[in-house]
Amino acid sequence: MSAMIGAMLAILGAIDAEVADNRRLLDDPVELRAGRLSVHRGRLHGSEVLLARCGVGKVNAAMATTVLHSAGATSLLFTGVAGGVAPGQRVGDLVVATDLVQHDVDVTALGRPPGQLLGEPASWAADPAMSEHLVAAAGACAARDGRTLHEGRIASGDQFVASAARAAAVHAEFGAVCVEMEGAAVAQAATSLGIPFAVLRALSDTADPGAARDFPAFLDGSARLMADVVECYLRGARSKIAL
Ligand code: ADE
Repeated sequence: MSAMIGAMLAILGAIDAEVADNRRLLDDPVELRAGRLSVHRGRLHGSEVLLARCGVGKVNAAMATTVLHSAGATSLLFTGVAGGVAPGQRVGDLVVATDLVQHDVDVTALGRPPGQLLGEPASWAADPAMSEHLVAAAGACAARDGRTLHEGRIASGDQFVASAARAAAVHAEFGAVCVEMEGAAVAQAATSLGIPFAVLRALSDTADPGAARDFPAFLDGSARLMADVVECYLRGARSKIAL
């Protein structure tokens, strides 16, 4: 079945290890440049997509979301790695976001709850239809590889968390299942622009003192893993939701 006319999915990751294999699989790629932001347009598994490596952190992620919207993206899928903060998680587990918060936001002096900006919601909800299809795609890959799939809140901040105490605090305070550095910025910008989005993460570490060792070690296989889930997502969702 063909994609919806005028609809185009943008797939983002922060670093090469999160986008490289999707970039390699892109048919007829055309590069669009916006400063240091690398964006390619092309066909991935038969669907017209935009693919961006946005750089690390919330500002880069929000900027990329705006650029991708201007380039014609009608939905956004972020794929990358994260640090697990919930008990019982293992490196390699997958996470699909239900909603996202910014754990480094503090406007408590003005009466806001931790993580909430003035004029913004307590969290930004991922699109239910996209997330349902992402759960199906990630679940299929997880079952094949013996990984566990978690669904839950993702907490983003401009911090690489490598402390068991901080990880436990983010889990306790926000009910988050993992920490990363871009998802909630994509969520905030996409919500503001009125574009549906979903976020997939693979746990590269458990945000404790071992994270500085585990994170780089996990990056080797992560591009392949992101590409596998994206392939399942595109093939499975094409007939059911706007791509
Ligand atoms: N991305 C992967 N691991 C992370 C961590 N521990 N903290 C923040 N972002 C991450």
